[in-house]
Amino acid sequence: MTSPDRRTRATIVGVGPGDNGFVSLKAKQAIENADLVAGFETVLNVIRPFVTNAEICSMAYRNQEDVLDYAVDKVREGKSLVVCAWGDLNVSAKELLDRVRRRVDYVDLIPGISSVQIAMSRLGISLEDVVFITLHKRDGVESALEELVYYLKDGRRNIILLPSPYDLMPADIAAGVIEKGVPADREMTVFQRLTHEDEQSWNGCISECAAITTEFSDLSIMIFHRPDSE
Ligand SMILES: C[S@@+](CC[C@H](N)C(=O)[O-])C[C@H]1O[C@@H](n2cnc3c(N)ncnc32)[C@H](O)[C@@H]1O
Repeated sequence: MTSPDRRTRATIVGVGPGDNGFVSLKAKQAIENADLVAGFETVLNVIRPFVTNAEICSMAYRNQEDVLDYAVDKVREGKSLVVCAWGDLNVSAKELLDRVRRRVDYVDLIPGISSVQIAMSRLGISLEDVVFITLHKRDGVESALEELVYYLKDGRRNIILLPSPYDLMPADIAAGVIEKGVPADREMTVFQRLTHEDEQSWNGCISECAAITTEFSDLSIMIFHRPDSE
């Protein structure tokens, strides 16, 4: 006699950078077929039109553990769960992935389009010419900043950096790297809210970025251009 399979699973989907035209068909199908759809409110707003019957489990930074516990309890009762991540789930989304992995036996991953890919498309640069660094994490920000300075001085690649809202934003980062001896005239771009209706792009050199006093969006991405690509 075989016992029923009690192993739990969840699907994590990347929902893209904001415009829901970038949600993949696979992600859309998973959301349409789910019993529960969990994610941060801004992420859920992207895919809300694709939710058919699912119970929506909206998470905030403070209650995310409780919401995931609730959703996984429902998985144990036989419900299917889709957890939504911003952009692509393989780009700076480790903490959310780990939270889900700690709770279920199997995780299916459906990748999405990252803000990093959109930024590269806007600038016409290729992944092989890029170093990617994120400050969007709780641990290891100091070593990420050291790497940033190292690769800026190395000068062989474009550097794509995700700032840390709102602790380390573009102007502070620019001022910080100048202090560490990076040439202040290096060209850079800051994109805000890529693919949203109010998308913005700023271009200039590092010293000009350091002088900006207006607030940047939490959806900001910085690109330091490779010197020979200017
Ligand atoms: C927790 S990380 C998640 C990144 C996501 N997994 C991705 O692939 O885009 C969130 C950060 O990604 C960047 N980001 C995400 N979407 C963005 C957008 N539409 N425009 C600009 N930056 C964005 C911002 O730096 C934001 O603070």
